[in-house]
This record gives sequence, structure tokens and C-alpha cells, in this order.
Amino acid sequence: MSFSPDKFPSRPELFDFHGVSMTHYFTDNWENIQNFQARPDDILIATYPKAGTTWVSYILDLLHFGQTERQTSVPIYNRVPFLEIIVPPLYSGKDLVDNLPTSPRLIKTHYPVQFVPKSFWEQNCRVVYLARNAKDNMVSYFHFDRMNMAQPEAGDWSSYIPRFIEGKLVFGSWYDHVNNWWKKKQTYPKLHYMFYEDLVQDTGQEIDKLCGFLGLSRSDEEKRRVTDGAHFDNMKKDDMANYSTNAIMDFKISPFMRKGKVGDWKNHFSVAQSEMFDEDYKKKMTDVTLQFRTEI
Ligand code: A3P
Repeated sequence: MSFSPDKFPSRPELFDFHGVSMTHYFTDNWENIQNFQARPDDILIATYPKAGTTWVSYILDLLHFGQTERQTSVPIYNRVPFLEIIVPPLYSGKDLVDNLPTSPRLIKTHYPVQFVPKSFWEQNCRVVYLARNAKDNMVSYFHFDRMNMAQPEAGDWSSYIPRFIEGKLVFGSWYDHVNNWWKKKQTYPKLHYMFYEDLVQDTGQEIDKLCGFLGLSRSDEEKRRVTDGAHFDNMKKDDMANYSTNAIMDFKISPFMRKGKVGDWKNHFSVAQSEMFDEDYKKKMTDVTLQFRTEI
């Protein structure tokens, strides 16, 4: 389906939900989501918003199913449904998951780890977590909040930085998100934690690691096709990947497939803003085993 802007007359409010900033689009279906029944072969793709979710979803979809008619006719957000989203009566991610015709089911979530339905852990499902460095993640989120009418207003850049630092964005604190998912990896072996920066630097190598994790044997030729198919330039012109079918986004403000780069933060942060951000970052990111690159 494609959204229609007239169904979204105003931007949603941000509120505290079990200690995490959320909007009603991701909490209204809470009971059903918490009772969601995962299957053992489900693959959960988890990210903080704007970490490259669509990219890794596209890669996993191609790796599993190749280029079929479905890939050229069904938008990525319906091939890899966003579990917790609900826009009654138009759209429910959970209904889409329940009706997925493919197996395994690829399922997207932005939930912090403590919100994930327990059946995923009980069924010992594979989970792919993709993380992106804070500064580029924030820049991407800023432009997304500007153009997506279902998100709270972005405001101006200088007011956005403190909101990111305080976790006052949808799905809460980036710092809590990446750290708590990292901690989960220590006790849950079927969690593959990967980084956007590595994916940009060497997509083929990351696809090799994904195949290892997922137990997929694919030929070099098949993997090369996935690498090429999931290239930024290709996805940007693919209407099934670039969200052009989704009318809730105002592409005059910003495209969804915006730049796809590491280091775009340098075009946004002033020196003073960057220093202030780094000072706070050091206080919050104390686990030395979790390191991000802000350039490659
Ligand atoms: P930018 O806004 O920095 O360009 P998500 O899918 O989680 O919403 O993340 C969107 C971000 O991932 C955007 O970042 C988008 O351009 C980037 N992205 C999507 N596909 C990509 C690809 N094939 N290569 C590199 N970046 C990609």
C-alpha cells in the first residue's frame, strides 16, 4: 500500500513509554506485539532508526530469495515488514508478518532490546543487528524527521543535537540502543552485530559473514549479484527500495536514499558542536569493546 498525506494531518507527539521516547505508531499494538509468536527460522533485523535498516533488509532478502517477481513488485517495507508499526486501519506490520508468503520470514524492528517479544529468544531465532556511528546516524535521522510526516518535527539542527543526546527521539536513546544490544550479544550467540561503516567499506566481506551466520551457501557469482544489487546507486533508483511508493514522506524536503556515506556529519556539525558531542559521548560510551568509526 502507499500512504496518503491527507491521512496524516498532524505530526505525532513523543511520549515516555516504559522509559523510552516513542510515538503511538509503535506502541498502539503493544499487547499484540508482546504476544507475537516467532517461528524458529524467523530472522529478526534490529536497528536504531537510520542505521541502514533498508540496506541490510534488502541484502538479506536478495540472499534468501534472489531477484524474483516479488523483488520487482513488492516494496521492501512489505517484503521485510516493520513488526511494531501500526496505522489503523491502513497498515499493521504484524499483519504483514502474519501473511508473509515467504520462508524464512525476515522481520524488521527498531525496538530497544528489552521491548523485543520474548518468543524470538524462546525460539532461538537468528538476529542481525546493524549499528551506525552516532554522528552520521543522527544526521540521517534529522533529515528523515524533516521529511516524514509520521515523525515528530525535526526542528532546527542546533536543537536536534541535544534531543539526540538526551534520547528524545522516537525509539529513545541511540546510546542505550547500541549498548544494550551489544550486551545482549554477550549472552545470546545467535545475534550477529554488524556496523554500517564495515558494510560501506567492504560489502562483499560483510555478505560473506552474513552467509556464515545464516548458514547459507552461495556461490561467488550469487554473492556478487547481491553486492551489486544492493549498491546505493541501484537501490536509490529502485522504486521498491527508495520508498517513493510511500506518500507519507515528502521527497521535496529530502530523499529517503539520501547520501549513503560515512562522514557526512562533517557537513553538519560545527567544531564547537562536535567537541560538545564528543565530550558527552565519552561519558556514555564506556564499554571499550564497542567501537565505532566516524570515517573510513
Ligand atoms: P543517509 O541518510 O545518511 O543517506 P534506514 O534504512 O535505517 O532508514 O537507514 C537509511 C540510511 O541508510 C540512509 O542514510 C540511506 O541513504 C542509507 N542507505 C540505504 N541503502 C544504502 C546503501 N545501499 N548503501 C549505503 N547506504 C545506504
